[in-house]
Amino acid sequence: MADETVKFVLTEKDLPDYWVNVLPALKEPMDPPLHPATREPIKPEDLAPIFPMALIEQEVSMKPQIDIPGEVIDVYKLWRPTPLFRARRLERALDTPAHIYYKYEGVSPAGSHKPNTAVAQAYYNKKEGIRRLATETGAGQWGSALALACRLFGLACTVYMVKVSYFQKPYRRIMIETWGGEIYPSPSDRTQSGRAILEQDPDSPGSLGIAISEAVEDAATHPDTNYSLGSVLNHVCLHQTIIGLECKKQMEMAGEQPDVVIGCFGGGSNFAGIAFPYLLDKLNGSPVRLMAVEPEACPSLTRGRYEYDHGDTAGLTPLLKMYTLGHKFIPPKIHAGGLRYHGAAPLCSHLLKHGWIEARAYHQLAVFEAAVQFARTEGIVPAPESAHAIRAAIDEALQAREEGRKRVILFNLSGHGHFDMSAYESFFAGKLENYAYQPESGRPQQPDCQG
Ligand SMILES: Cc1ncc(COP(=O)(O)O)c(C=O)c1O
Repeated sequence: MADETVKFVLTEKDLPDYWVNVLPALKEPMDPPLHPATREPIKPEDLAPIFPMALIEQEVSMKPQIDIPGEVIDVYKLWRPTPLFRARRLERALDTPAHIYYKYEGVSPAGSHKPNTAVAQAYYNKKEGIRRLATETGAGQWGSALALACRLFGLACTVYMVKVSYFQKPYRRIMIETWGGEIYPSPSDRTQSGRAILEQDPDSPGSLGIAISEAVEDAATHPDTNYSLGSVLNHVCLHQTIIGLECKKQMEMAGEQPDVVIGCFGGGSNFAGIAFPYLLDKLNGSPVRLMAVEPEACPSLTRGRYEYDHGDTAGLTPLLKMYTLGHKFIPPKIHAGGLRYHGAAPLCSHLLKHGWIEARAYHQLAVFEAAVQFARTEGIVPAPESAHAIRAAIDEALQAREEGRKRVILFNLSGHGHFDMSAYESFFAGKLENYAYQPESGRPQQPDCQG
Protein backbone atom coordinates (compact mmCIF):
# COMPACT_ATOMS: atom_id res chain seq x y z
CA MET A 1 0.00 0.00 0.00
CA ALA A 2 1.26 3.44 -0.86
CA ASP A 3 2.50 5.54 2.05
CA GLU A 4 -0.43 7.73 3.01
CA THR A 5 1.21 9.61 5.88
CA VAL A 6 -0.63 12.83 6.69
CA LYS A 7 1.33 14.25 9.64
CA PHE A 8 5.11 14.49 9.89
CA VAL A 9 5.88 14.85 13.57
CA LEU A 10 9.21 15.54 15.25
CA THR A 11 10.03 14.77 18.88
CA GLU A 12 11.27 17.34 21.40
CA LYS A 13 14.75 15.92 20.87
CA ASP A 14 14.59 17.07 17.25
CA LEU A 15 13.95 20.72 18.20
CA PRO A 16 16.56 22.89 16.49
CA ASP A 17 18.93 24.43 19.05
CA TYR A 18 19.87 27.41 16.89
CA TRP A 19 18.21 30.06 14.74
CA VAL A 20 19.62 30.62 11.28
CA ASN A 21 20.87 34.10 10.37
CA VAL A 22 20.83 34.93 6.66
CA LEU A 23 22.64 38.29 7.00
CA PRO A 24 26.17 36.91 6.48
CA ALA A 25 25.07 34.85 3.45
CA LEU A 26 23.56 37.74 1.46
CA LYS A 27 25.17 38.34 -1.94
CA GLU A 28 24.38 42.07 -1.99
CA PRO A 29 25.00 44.45 0.96
CA MET A 30 22.00 45.80 2.91
CA ASP A 31 21.35 49.51 3.41
CA PRO A 32 21.60 50.36 7.13
CA PRO A 33 18.76 51.84 9.22
CA LEU A 34 19.13 55.62 9.64
CA HIS A 35 18.62 57.84 12.66
CA PRO A 36 15.35 59.76 12.12
CA ALA A 37 16.92 63.11 13.13
CA THR A 38 20.42 62.95 11.62
CA ARG A 39 19.81 60.46 8.77
CA GLU A 40 23.14 58.90 9.76
CA PRO A 41 23.35 55.10 10.21
CA ILE A 42 21.95 54.26 13.59
CA LYS A 43 24.30 53.19 16.39
CA PRO A 44 23.59 50.47 18.97
CA GLU A 45 23.47 53.06 21.77
CA ASP A 46 20.63 54.85 19.94
CA LEU A 47 18.47 51.76 20.41
CA ALA A 48 19.59 50.92 23.96
CA PRO A 49 16.87 52.95 25.74
CA ILE A 50 14.15 50.64 24.43
CA PHE A 51 15.80 47.32 23.41
CA PRO A 52 18.10 44.94 25.34
CA MET A 53 21.69 44.69 24.09
CA ALA A 54 21.33 41.00 23.17
CA LEU A 55 18.59 41.83 20.64
CA ILE A 56 20.46 44.88 19.31
CA GLU A 57 23.41 42.56 18.70
CA GLN A 58 21.22 40.01 16.96
CA GLU A 59 19.87 42.76 14.74
CA VAL A 60 23.32 43.21 13.13
CA SER A 61 24.98 39.88 13.91
CA MET A 62 27.14 38.28 11.22
CA LYS A 63 27.14 34.86 12.87
CA PRO A 64 25.50 32.31 10.54
CA GLN A 65 23.76 30.58 13.46
CA ILE A 66 22.67 31.86 16.84
CA ASP A 67 22.19 29.40 19.70
CA ILE A 68 18.72 29.28 21.20
CA PRO A 69 19.06 29.62 24.99
CA GLY A 70 17.99 26.54 26.98
CA GLU A 71 15.31 28.55 28.84
CA VAL A 72 13.73 29.53 25.51
CA ILE A 73 13.81 25.94 24.25
CA ASP A 74 12.09 24.86 27.48
CA VAL A 75 9.20 27.21 26.70
CA TYR A 76 9.13 26.28 23.01
CA LYS A 77 8.54 22.68 24.15
CA LEU A 78 5.04 23.70 25.28
CA TRP A 79 3.99 23.52 21.61
CA ARG A 80 7.07 22.89 19.44
CA PRO A 81 8.00 21.09 17.28
CA THR A 82 4.84 21.96 15.35
CA PRO A 83 3.37 19.43 12.90
CA LEU A 84 3.87 19.40 9.14
CA PHE A 85 0.83 18.11 7.25
CA ARG A 86 0.45 16.73 3.77
CA ALA A 87 -2.83 18.23 2.53
CA ARG A 88 -4.01 15.02 0.87
CA ARG A 89 -7.72 15.88 1.08
CA LEU A 90 -7.18 19.30 -0.44
CA GLU A 91 -5.05 17.73 -3.19
CA ARG A 92 -7.86 15.28 -3.98
CA ALA A 93 -10.45 18.07 -4.05
CA LEU A 94 -8.27 20.03 -6.47
CA ASP A 95 -7.56 16.91 -8.53
CA THR A 96 -3.97 18.04 -8.82
CA PRO A 97 -0.71 16.15 -9.32
CA ALA A 98 0.87 18.67 -6.92
CA HIS A 99 1.90 17.59 -3.43
CA ILE A 100 0.85 20.23 -0.90
CA TYR A 101 2.44 20.46 2.55
CA TYR A 102 1.65 22.93 5.32
CA LYS A 103 3.43 23.78 8.54
CA TYR A 104 0.89 24.50 11.26
CA GLU A 105 1.87 27.25 13.69
CA GLY A 106 -1.65 27.60 15.10
CA VAL A 107 -0.88 25.01 17.80
CA SER A 108 0.90 27.60 19.98
CA PRO A 109 -1.04 28.74 23.07
CA ALA A 110 -1.72 32.12 21.44
CA GLY A 111 -2.74 30.44 18.17
CA SER A 112 -0.07 31.75 15.81
CA HIS A 113 3.66 31.92 15.08
CA LYS A 114 4.01 35.15 17.11
CA PRO A 115 5.13 33.48 20.38
CA ASN A 116 8.29 32.18 18.65
CA THR A 117 9.77 35.67 18.93
CA ALA A 118 7.74 36.89 21.93
CA VAL A 119 9.31 34.17 24.09
CA ALA A 120 12.84 34.99 22.93
CA GLN A 121 12.32 38.71 23.41
CA ALA A 122 10.88 38.27 26.91
CA TYR A 123 13.82 36.03 27.84
CA TYR A 124 16.56 38.47 26.75
CA ASN A 125 14.81 41.41 28.39
CA LYS A 126 14.42 39.52 31.65
CA LYS A 127 18.10 38.54 31.54
CA GLU A 128 19.13 42.18 31.25
CA GLY A 129 17.12 43.18 34.32
CA ILE A 130 14.09 44.64 32.60
CA ARG A 131 10.91 44.42 34.67
CA ARG A 132 8.22 45.23 32.12
CA LEU A 133 7.62 45.21 28.33
CA ALA A 134 5.37 47.64 26.49
CA THR A 135 3.87 47.02 23.07
CA GLU A 136 1.01 47.93 20.77
CA THR A 137 -1.60 45.67 19.27
CA GLY A 138 -4.44 45.97 16.79
CA ALA A 139 -6.90 43.17 17.34
CA GLY A 140 -4.52 41.53 19.78
CA GLN A 141 -2.68 38.69 18.02
CA TRP A 142 0.74 40.09 18.86
CA GLY A 143 -0.34 41.49 22.23
CA SER A 144 -1.59 38.11 23.37
CA ALA A 145 1.65 36.38 22.31
CA LEU A 146 3.72 38.88 24.28
CA ALA A 147 1.45 38.70 27.33
CA LEU A 148 1.94 34.92 27.37
CA ALA A 149 5.73 35.21 27.01
CA CYS A 150 6.01 37.86 29.73
CA ARG A 151 3.97 35.74 32.10
CA LEU A 152 6.24 32.73 31.54
CA PHE A 153 9.37 34.78 32.30
CA GLY A 154 7.91 36.78 35.20
CA LEU A 155 7.79 40.15 33.42
CA ALA A 156 4.97 42.64 33.54
CA CYS A 157 3.38 43.42 30.18
CA THR A 158 1.60 46.57 29.07
CA VAL A 159 -0.36 46.48 25.84
CA TYR A 160 -1.76 49.56 24.10
CA MET A 161 -4.65 48.28 22.06
CA VAL A 162 -6.28 50.35 19.33
CA LYS A 163 -9.38 51.75 21.06
CA VAL A 164 -12.02 50.58 18.58
CA SER A 165 -10.66 47.04 18.78
CA TYR A 166 -10.53 47.16 22.54
CA PHE A 167 -14.27 47.72 22.65
CA GLN A 168 -15.42 45.91 19.52
CA LYS A 169 -13.23 42.78 19.60
CA PRO A 170 -12.96 41.84 23.25
CA TYR A 171 -11.74 38.25 23.16
CA ARG A 172 -8.04 38.82 22.46
CA ARG A 173 -8.15 41.53 25.14
CA ILE A 174 -9.57 39.06 27.64
CA MET A 175 -6.91 36.53 26.61
CA ILE A 176 -4.22 39.13 27.38
CA GLU A 177 -5.81 39.74 30.78
CA THR A 178 -6.00 36.00 31.41
CA TRP A 179 -2.22 35.86 31.06
CA GLY A 180 -1.91 38.82 33.43
CA GLY A 181 -1.10 41.58 30.94
CA GLU A 182 -2.40 45.09 31.59
CA ILE A 183 -4.16 46.53 28.62
CA TYR A 184 -5.28 50.06 27.79
CA PRO A 185 -7.38 51.39 24.98
CA SER A 186 -5.21 53.70 22.90
CA PRO A 187 -5.11 56.72 22.82
CA SER A 188 -4.85 56.65 26.63
CA ASP A 189 -4.13 59.34 29.19
CA ARG A 190 -1.03 57.44 30.34
CA THR A 191 1.32 59.02 27.80
CA GLN A 192 1.95 62.47 26.38
CA SER A 193 1.27 61.29 22.86
CA GLY A 194 -2.02 59.74 23.97
CA ARG A 195 -3.04 62.87 25.91
CA ALA A 196 -2.20 65.11 22.95
CA ILE A 197 -4.51 63.11 20.71
CA LEU A 198 -7.28 63.04 23.33
CA GLU A 199 -7.07 66.82 23.76
CA GLN A 200 -7.66 67.28 20.05
CA ASP A 201 -10.24 64.55 19.79
CA PRO A 202 -11.60 63.05 23.01
CA ASP A 203 -13.46 60.44 20.96
CA SER A 204 -10.47 59.37 18.87
CA PRO A 205 -10.91 55.70 17.95
CA GLY A 206 -7.12 55.25 17.90
CA SER A 207 -4.82 53.68 15.33
CA LEU A 208 -1.87 51.35 15.27
CA GLY A 209 0.41 54.36 14.71
CA ILE A 210 -0.85 56.08 17.85
CA ALA A 211 -0.54 52.86 19.86
CA ILE A 212 3.08 52.45 18.75
CA SER A 213 3.86 56.00 19.85
CA GLU A 214 2.36 55.27 23.27
CA ALA A 215 4.27 52.01 23.73
CA VAL A 216 7.59 53.51 22.60
CA GLU A 217 7.09 56.54 24.86
CA ASP A 218 6.17 54.32 27.80
CA ALA A 219 9.40 52.32 27.30
CA ALA A 220 11.59 55.38 26.71
CA THR A 221 10.35 57.14 29.87
CA HIS A 222 10.65 54.17 32.26
CA PRO A 223 14.15 52.78 32.87
CA ASP A 224 12.76 49.40 33.93
CA THR A 225 10.65 49.07 30.76
CA ASN A 226 11.54 48.13 27.19
CA TYR A 227 9.61 48.12 23.93
CA SER A 228 8.89 44.97 21.95
CA LEU A 229 7.99 44.62 18.27
CA GLY A 230 6.32 41.57 16.72
CA SER A 231 7.58 41.70 13.13
CA VAL A 232 9.74 43.60 10.58
CA LEU A 233 13.09 43.73 12.42
CA ASN A 234 15.96 41.34 11.66
CA HIS A 235 15.95 39.75 15.11
CA VAL A 236 12.22 38.96 14.82
CA CYS A 237 12.75 37.23 11.45
CA LEU A 238 15.70 35.39 13.00
CA HIS A 239 13.61 33.94 15.85
CA GLN A 240 10.99 32.73 13.38
CA THR A 241 13.50 30.63 11.42
CA ILE A 242 12.80 27.78 13.81
CA ILE A 243 9.74 27.19 11.59
CA GLY A 244 11.75 26.53 8.42
CA LEU A 245 14.45 24.60 10.26
CA GLU A 246 11.83 22.16 11.53
CA CYS A 247 10.26 21.99 8.06
CA LYS A 248 13.54 20.88 6.55
CA LYS A 249 13.70 17.89 8.87
CA GLN A 250 10.03 17.08 8.25
CA MET A 251 10.29 17.35 4.46
CA GLU A 252 13.19 14.94 4.72
CA MET A 253 10.89 12.52 6.57
CA ALA A 254 8.43 12.95 3.70
CA GLY A 255 11.23 12.25 1.22
CA GLU A 256 10.54 15.40 -0.81
CA GLN A 257 11.96 18.85 -1.43
CA PRO A 258 9.70 21.87 -2.01
CA ASP A 259 9.66 23.49 -5.44
CA VAL A 260 7.97 26.52 -3.92
CA VAL A 261 7.78 27.81 -0.31
CA ILE A 262 4.93 30.20 0.48
CA GLY A 263 4.12 32.51 3.39
CA CYS A 264 1.60 35.31 3.89
CA PHE A 265 3.15 38.70 4.37
CA GLY A 266 2.33 41.46 6.88
CA GLY A 267 5.62 42.74 8.25
CA GLY A 268 7.42 39.64 6.99
CA SER A 269 8.17 37.49 10.03
CA ASN A 270 6.26 34.25 9.31
CA PHE A 271 7.34 34.33 5.66
CA ALA A 272 10.96 34.84 6.73
CA GLY A 273 10.53 32.06 9.29
CA ILE A 274 9.61 29.41 6.77
CA ALA A 275 11.61 30.76 3.81
CA PHE A 276 15.00 31.81 5.19
CA PRO A 277 16.38 28.30 5.83
CA TYR A 278 15.52 27.53 2.17
CA LEU A 279 16.99 30.86 1.04
CA LEU A 280 20.39 29.60 2.12
CA ASP A 281 19.99 26.71 -0.35
CA LYS A 282 18.84 29.12 -3.03
CA LEU A 283 21.86 31.35 -2.51
CA ASN A 284 23.89 28.18 -3.16
CA GLY A 285 22.13 27.38 -6.42
CA SER A 286 18.90 25.57 -5.45
CA PRO A 287 16.01 26.41 -7.83
CA VAL A 288 13.45 26.60 -4.96
CA ARG A 289 11.02 29.53 -5.33
CA LEU A 290 10.18 31.63 -2.26
CA MET A 291 6.84 33.43 -2.43
CA ALA A 292 5.40 36.15 -0.15
CA VAL A 293 1.64 36.75 -0.40
CA GLU A 294 0.02 40.03 0.58
CA PRO A 295 -3.42 41.67 0.32
CA GLU A 296 -4.31 43.73 -2.78
CA ALA A 297 -5.63 46.34 -0.37
CA CYS A 298 -2.21 46.83 1.25
CA PRO A 299 0.32 45.78 -1.40
CA SER A 300 3.64 47.03 -0.04
CA LEU A 301 5.77 44.42 -1.87
CA THR A 302 3.96 44.45 -5.22
CA ARG A 303 3.01 48.14 -5.44
CA GLY A 304 5.17 49.95 -2.87
CA ARG A 305 8.33 51.98 -3.47
CA TYR A 306 11.73 50.76 -2.31
CA GLU A 307 12.95 53.65 -0.20
CA TYR A 308 13.75 54.83 3.34
CA ASP A 309 10.63 55.26 5.46
CA HIS A 310 9.52 55.20 9.09
CA GLY A 311 8.23 52.00 10.63
CA ASP A 312 5.38 53.82 12.40
CA THR A 313 2.75 56.31 11.40
CA ALA A 314 3.95 58.99 13.79
CA GLY A 315 7.48 58.94 12.36
CA LEU A 316 9.29 58.18 15.64
CA THR A 317 11.17 55.05 14.56
CA PRO A 318 14.46 54.82 12.63
CA LEU A 319 14.23 55.11 8.85
CA LEU A 320 14.29 51.65 7.28
CA LYS A 321 15.06 50.89 3.64
CA MET A 322 12.04 48.90 2.58
CA TYR A 323 9.14 48.51 0.19
CA THR A 324 6.59 50.92 1.57
CA LEU A 325 3.26 52.50 0.76
CA GLY A 326 4.28 55.49 2.89
CA HIS A 327 4.06 55.67 6.68
CA LYS A 328 0.90 57.79 6.51
CA PHE A 329 -0.93 55.18 4.43
CA ILE A 330 -3.90 53.77 6.30
CA PRO A 331 -4.97 50.48 4.76
CA PRO A 332 -8.64 49.70 4.18
CA LYS A 333 -10.45 47.56 6.71
CA ILE A 334 -9.75 44.11 5.31
CA HIS A 335 -10.24 41.22 7.68
CA ALA A 336 -6.62 40.04 7.57
CA GLY A 337 -5.72 42.70 10.13
CA GLY A 338 -2.22 41.35 10.67
CA LEU A 339 -1.39 42.14 7.03
CA ARG A 340 -2.43 45.81 7.26
CA TYR A 341 1.04 47.29 7.53
CA HIS A 342 2.43 49.99 5.24
CA GLY A 343 6.00 48.63 5.10
CA ALA A 344 7.89 45.35 4.82
CA ALA A 345 10.83 43.83 6.69
CA PRO A 346 14.03 45.42 5.31
CA LEU A 347 15.56 41.95 4.90
CA CYS A 348 12.64 40.68 2.81
CA SER A 349 12.54 43.96 0.85
CA HIS A 350 16.22 43.60 0.04
CA LEU A 351 15.71 40.01 -1.14
CA LEU A 352 12.78 41.01 -3.34
CA LYS A 353 14.72 43.91 -4.84
CA HIS A 354 17.53 41.55 -5.82
CA GLY A 355 15.26 38.82 -7.16
CA TRP A 356 15.75 36.16 -4.48
CA ILE A 357 12.09 36.07 -3.50
CA GLU A 358 8.85 36.76 -5.36
CA ALA A 359 5.63 38.46 -4.26
CA ARG A 360 1.96 38.15 -5.17
CA ALA A 361 -1.18 39.99 -4.02
CA TYR A 362 -4.81 38.79 -3.67
CA HIS A 363 -8.17 40.38 -2.97
CA GLN A 364 -9.91 39.25 0.19
CA LEU A 365 -12.85 37.48 -1.47
CA ALA A 366 -10.50 35.09 -3.29
CA VAL A 367 -8.64 34.62 0.00
CA PHE A 368 -11.81 33.71 1.93
CA GLU A 369 -12.89 31.30 -0.82
CA ALA A 370 -9.56 29.51 -0.33
CA ALA A 371 -9.93 29.62 3.47
CA VAL A 372 -13.33 27.94 3.31
CA GLN A 373 -12.18 25.31 0.80
CA PHE A 374 -9.27 24.55 3.14
CA ALA A 375 -11.51 24.32 6.23
CA ARG A 376 -13.89 22.00 4.38
CA THR A 377 -11.14 19.62 3.24
CA GLU A 378 -8.36 19.80 5.84
CA GLY A 379 -10.55 20.74 8.83
CA ILE A 380 -8.56 23.64 10.26
CA VAL A 381 -10.26 27.06 10.13
CA PRO A 382 -7.36 29.32 9.13
CA ALA A 383 -6.62 32.88 10.21
CA PRO A 384 -7.53 35.27 7.38
CA GLU A 385 -3.84 36.27 7.24
CA SER A 386 -2.71 32.68 6.73
CA ALA A 387 -5.43 32.16 4.11
CA HIS A 388 -3.42 34.36 1.75
CA ALA A 389 -0.77 31.64 1.68
CA ILE A 390 -3.48 29.02 1.14
CA ARG A 391 -4.84 30.95 -1.86
CA ALA A 392 -1.40 31.01 -3.46
CA ALA A 393 -0.78 27.33 -2.68
CA ILE A 394 -4.10 26.37 -4.29
CA ASP A 395 -3.30 28.44 -7.38
CA GLU A 396 0.13 26.81 -7.66
CA ALA A 397 -1.55 23.39 -7.41
CA LEU A 398 -4.11 24.30 -10.09
CA GLN A 399 -1.33 25.48 -12.37
CA ALA A 400 0.45 22.15 -11.85
CA ARG A 401 -2.79 20.43 -12.89
CA GLU A 402 -2.98 22.50 -16.05
CA GLU A 403 0.61 21.66 -16.87
CA GLY A 404 0.05 18.01 -15.97
CA ARG A 405 3.19 18.08 -13.86
CA LYS A 406 3.97 17.33 -10.22
CA ARG A 407 4.96 20.30 -8.08
CA VAL A 408 5.87 20.18 -4.38
CA ILE A 409 4.31 23.08 -2.54
CA LEU A 410 5.09 24.01 1.08
CA PHE A 411 3.25 26.79 2.88
CA ASN A 412 3.11 28.25 6.34
CA LEU A 413 -0.27 28.07 8.06
CA SER A 414 0.68 30.84 10.47
CA GLY A 415 -2.39 30.70 12.70
CA HIS A 416 -5.94 29.54 13.31
CA GLY A 417 -8.96 31.73 12.78
CA HIS A 418 -10.93 30.99 15.95
CA PHE A 419 -11.11 34.67 16.87
CA ASP A 420 -12.08 35.66 13.33
CA MET A 421 -15.56 34.20 13.18
CA SER A 422 -17.10 37.61 12.51
CA ALA A 423 -14.98 37.83 9.34
CA TYR A 424 -16.23 34.42 8.21
CA GLU A 425 -19.78 35.48 9.12
CA SER A 426 -19.46 38.56 6.89
CA PHE A 427 -18.09 36.41 4.08
CA PHE A 428 -21.01 33.97 4.27
CA ALA A 429 -23.47 36.87 4.42
CA GLY A 430 -21.99 38.28 1.21
CA LYS A 431 -20.87 41.40 3.03
CA LEU A 432 -17.14 41.24 2.28
CA GLU A 433 -15.88 43.51 -0.46
CA ASN A 434 -12.65 43.78 -2.35
CA TYR A 435 -10.72 47.02 -1.95
CA ALA A 436 -8.54 48.32 -4.74
CA TYR A 437 -5.32 49.91 -3.57
CA GLN A 438 -5.48 53.69 -3.90
CA PRO A 439 -2.06 55.30 -3.62
CA GLU A 440 -3.56 58.69 -2.79
CA SER A 441 -5.70 57.39 0.06
CA GLY A 442 -3.31 58.71 2.67
CA ARG A 443 -6.37 60.23 4.31
CA PRO A 444 -7.17 59.08 7.80
CA GLN A 445 -9.95 56.51 7.64
CA GLN A 446 -11.70 54.88 10.53
CA PRO A 447 -8.84 52.84 11.89
CA ASP A 448 -9.68 49.22 12.08
CA CYS A 449 -9.52 46.76 14.77
CA GLN A 450 -8.16 43.66 13.20
CA GLY A 451 -4.38 43.89 13.23
C1 LIG B 1 -1.80 34.57 12.01
C2 LIG B 1 -0.94 35.68 11.47
N1 LIG B 1 -0.26 35.45 10.33
C3 LIG B 1 0.52 36.41 9.78
C4 LIG B 1 0.64 37.67 10.37
C5 LIG B 1 1.48 38.69 9.68
O1 LIG B 1 2.63 39.04 10.33
P1 LIG B 1 4.07 38.65 9.78
O2 LIG B 1 4.14 39.08 8.34
O3 LIG B 1 5.03 39.37 10.64
O4 LIG B 1 4.19 37.17 9.90
C6 LIG B 1 -0.04 37.94 11.57
C7 LIG B 1 0.09 39.25 12.23
O5 LIG B 1 -0.58 39.62 13.14
C8 LIG B 1 -0.84 36.91 12.14
O6 LIG B 1 -1.50 37.11 13.28
